[in-house]
Amino acid sequence: MNRRQFLASVSAAAILPMPSAAAADPIKLKAEAVIRQILPDGDGTTEMLGFNGSVPGPELRVKRGAQVSIELENGLKEGTAVHWHGIRLENAMDGVPMLTQDLINPGDSKTYSFVPPDAGTYWYHSHYISQEQVARGMMGPLIVEDDVPPDVDHDITVVLSDWIMNEDGSLADRFTDMHSVAHAGYMGNFARAFLSPAEVKQADRVRFRIINAATNRIFPLTLAGVTGSVVALDGMALDQPRGLSDLMLAPAQRADLIVDITGPVSFDMLSGSGPYRLADLAVNGKNTDRKPDQIVPLAAPDLPVPGDHTQHLTLTMMGGAMGGRHDGTNIWSFNDVSDLPDTPFAEIKRGETVRITLANDTAFPHGIHLHGHHFYELTADGSLGDLRDTTLVAAGESRDVLCVFDNPGRWLIHCHMLSHAIGGMRTWVQVA
Ligand code: C2O
Ligand code: CU
Repeated sequence: MNRRQFLASVSAAAILPMPSAAAADPIKLKAEAVIRQILPDGDGTTEMLGFNGSVPGPELRVKRGAQVSIELENGLKEGTAVHWHGIRLENAMDGVPMLTQDLINPGDSKTYSFVPPDAGTYWYHSHYISQEQVARGMMGPLIVEDDVPPDVDHDITVVLSDWIMNEDGSLADRFTDMHSVAHAGYMGNFARAFLSPAEVKQADRVRFRIINAATNRIFPLTLAGVTGSVVALDGMALDQPRGLSDLMLAPAQRADLIVDITGPVSFDMLSGSGPYRLADLAVNGKNTDRKPDQIVPLAAPDLPVPGDHTQHLTLTMMGGAMGGRHDGTNIWSFNDVSDLPDTPFAEIKRGETVRITLANDTAFPHGIHLHGHHFYELTADGSLGDLRDTTLVAAGESRDVLCVFDNPGRWLIHCHMLSHAIGGMRTWVQVA
């Protein structure tokens, strides 16, 4: 058995690696080359970049309100930095090279420490040449455990991604080709969901934490073999659990579900050519102890309450194919400004409530992410909708969001279709 086969069988056995011990000691994460069985068993293996020998990286489980230290070692041949997506953390720990930290060079390490204030489903990913590093595999789940977990039999993480694969299982070297950057972005020809291992029975109650870790693909999802509700979006508990229809995740978005198992479970992506199977979950035996019971909301997050807004900003997404803006690599912009300007798009006093109109003046949907905060999507009548860290705005549409900027620092706003982010759709705000 050669080394390559060995690594492949090891990683194939561990569908998602076991959670790292949530101890006070630093969690060790090593960014490194990984060989992984992405295609079905029997097909070729894939050379990727991952963490601790795995793609997705290990599931980190941490306690709400407790100090977390993560020692990141860069075992790659290039620089990197890691972003803890959705966590309202200290700016210096946000993992954005050139804005909040220096690049971590090959062989170097950096310790990220923060206190996660909100329970929920988050994730981590490379934030350097991110379209390529994330597409190569540099992402993993970050779970902030509930103070009082809901009454479920299993807590299963579901990580979605897609890749442009060659027949032999290798990743095609088309991470940043200009055609995809100017259109919907790097779009895989193969997609799947990675589930954490669990022995599930009929009538079990299960929490699924679904994370869209794809670089550009929006996943419209359906689940078979379950009945239940959506209980959280982007980590934040919903006041009222919601039906499972129209489950749609933009890149970086998460949805937490609590469901009862009615039969063999499958996850499908809806596509023009019919459903595309992302994962199956076998169901063996029957849980006779579980009594049917209502699904109750998770504990409400503790976020600052928005006041009247003191600034109303507009960010207009511009550019792309059919958008008439093609000067070199700057294909996309906000308000006609591509890439990070030297001065912030807005200066905000700490604690200010700001309304932002996100106007999509392009021919493509965009999933806009704000670092370091969650914001409310505003409904058509102006009332507070869902709390999000990433909001999907369809082509030609616009969405208003309301955010209490209570976290000081330099915070990115960018399209989480990472091809669009590298194509220029990025800016930042200063909170002081
Ligand atoms: Cu999920 Cu700026 O990142
Ligand atoms: Cu975009």
